Amino acid sequence: MYDNYAEIYDLIYEFLDYEKTAKKIKKLILKNKRTEVNTLLDIACGTGRHLHYLKKDFKCTGVDISDQMLDVARKNYPDIRFIQADMIELDLKEKFDAIICLFSSIGYVKTYENLEKTIINFANHLKQGGVVIIEPWLTKSNAIAGLASMTTYESDDIKIARQCVTKIAGDITPFEMHYMIAKKNEDVIYFKDHHELGLFDTDKTIQMMEEAGIETKYLDKGLETERGLFIGVKKKNSY
Ligand SMILES: C[S@@+](CC[C@H](N)C(=O)[O-])C[C@H]1O[C@@H](n2cnc3c(N)ncnc32)[C@H](O)[C@@H]1O
Repeated sequence: MYDNYAEIYDLIYEFLDYEKTAKKIKKLILKNKRTEVNTLLDIACGTGRHLHYLKKDFKCTGVDISDQMLDVARKNYPDIRFIQADMIELDLKEKFDAIICLFSSIGYVKTYENLEKTIINFANHLKQGGVVIIEPWLTKSNAIAGLASMTTYESDDIKIARQCVTKIAGDITPFEMHYMIAKKNEDVIYFKDHHELGLFDTDKTIQMMEEAGIETKYLDKGLETERGLFIGVKKKNSY
């Protein structure tokens, strides 16, 4: 998955305004917190761009499953702590005041069984009164199959085109990302990247969060991607 294209991830998503999103995240954390918030954990942090903007307000840690994404993150932000881990098996033996999991990364856990394990892990890593923010992937009711999409990036030295046609298979969106990359003085390269994300029902996700001791609300319009947003606060009397 992301291992193939960590080096070009920031180029293909150059159009996203991470600074603006980070400002919204900070606001939501401060509005919802029921404890002092000093430490923040970004789960599935990718190349660390949200943390770059959050580190002036919080002591930040990033976790991601992909060593290649973390290599880019560590190179760009050597002052931030990054840890390689799978969110489904996360066990850092540490609790944080805030946890974020953005840009639909939660979808990669694929099944409800994994989603439940992951949400329990989030709860176990959160202090009482701390805030968790999860930006979900699509649901079965708003996912559309057959949509063609293309994202491009170009500079003098590199031209990138990424194309995809959306698919739905049961509770999963399996899709192939087709990449063509032309670098100055090099041959054009082509590769495919296969992604599978689970289509998780909003009410079921809220129920899992509540059962994990997280008081949860859902916003229809969340951050930049307008994919909704779960905002939870760990209950005071929970473990
Ligand atoms: C869409 S990217 C989002 C990255 C970053 N949060 C951002 O907003 O740019 C999804 C990230 O999830 C990571 N990921 C996928 N499955 C994961 C898992 N089971 N545990 C931790 N990270 C995972 C990928 O390596 C990738 O960096």
